[in-house]
Amino acid sequence: MTFENLVTTIENNILTITINRPDKLNALTKKTVEEIGIAVKKGESDSSIRAMIITGAGQKSFVAGADITEFIGLTVEQGKQLAQAGQNVFRSIETSSKPIIAAVNGFALGGGCELSMACHLRIASENAKFGQPEVNLGLIAGYGGTQRLIQYIGKTKATELHMTGEMISAEQALHLGLVNYVVPQDQLLAKCEELLGKIKTKAPKAIAGVINSINAYFKTDGFATEVEEFGKCFATEDFNEGVNAFIEKRKADFVGR
Ligand code: COA
Repeated sequence: MTFENLVTTIENNILTITINRPDKLNALTKKTVEEIGIAVKKGESDSSIRAMIITGAGQKSFVAGADITEFIGLTVEQGKQLAQAGQNVFRSIETSSKPIIAAVNGFALGGGCELSMACHLRIASENAKFGQPEVNLGLIAGYGGTQRLIQYIGKTKATELHMTGEMISAEQALHLGLVNYVVPQDQLLAKCEELLGKIKTKAPKAIAGVINSINAYFKTDGFATEVEEFGKCFATEDFNEGVNAFIEKRKADFVGR
């Protein structure tokens, strides 16, 4: 498989998908999200593949969010379409019948935190940081983050993280139940492979049944509300201010319109 923004490898029946825009901290363009969808679909349909790992290139960032530069000038409708397309790809990860681990090798912010949460398991390196900083841009999460963060860490802390936009450390993420393990960066992929090594010895249909049953517990319609609310942000002055402030590398001054 050849991609513009991904590198994929297959070893020991594990497909590793590496998001490869390290100079932009692996921020997710629309195209990158599409490519992730294609790679996961391939992993799902190829019978030689038993499991998948999703990670980011470099040692600094897993994914620092959706690519903010692509937000400029979007209408409400285009904002909704963007969120829906992202949600669709992330749902294909969550509903994959094969186990998918996020190897979180640094910043997992916004769409990056959401991507990790769509995976079935998360292992973080010690330098990883998680957060949903969209409010700093006058925006909310749009790729399922308002729904899945609650599922992992509960309403109390999820509300705080979405409202403050603050990051938490890998250790805090472990304490809150957002990640399964925290390991030194040079052991990250080995730890993922060790865990998948155990899972790969189990019956694939039983593993698919576990995934399907656990997902069934969390079926909600909140995802559609997230798409609506994400789209509405694009009609506000504060959203323009937030995005311009990020690009101009200054603090946003929000006015409430
Ligand atoms: N979208 C587009 N570009 C991004 C990005 C994003 N989400 N996150 C980082 N980048 C780019 C930066 O603009 C910068 O590009 P440049 O070198 O051309 O100026 C490059 O990646 C490196 O990032 P930089 O901000 O210089 O690194 P840092 O170590 O100072 O800060 C972060 C790291 C993660 C704290 C900071 O990049 C950040 O806040 N990113 C945005 C996070 C966010 O809001 N995500 C949610 C988006 S909805």
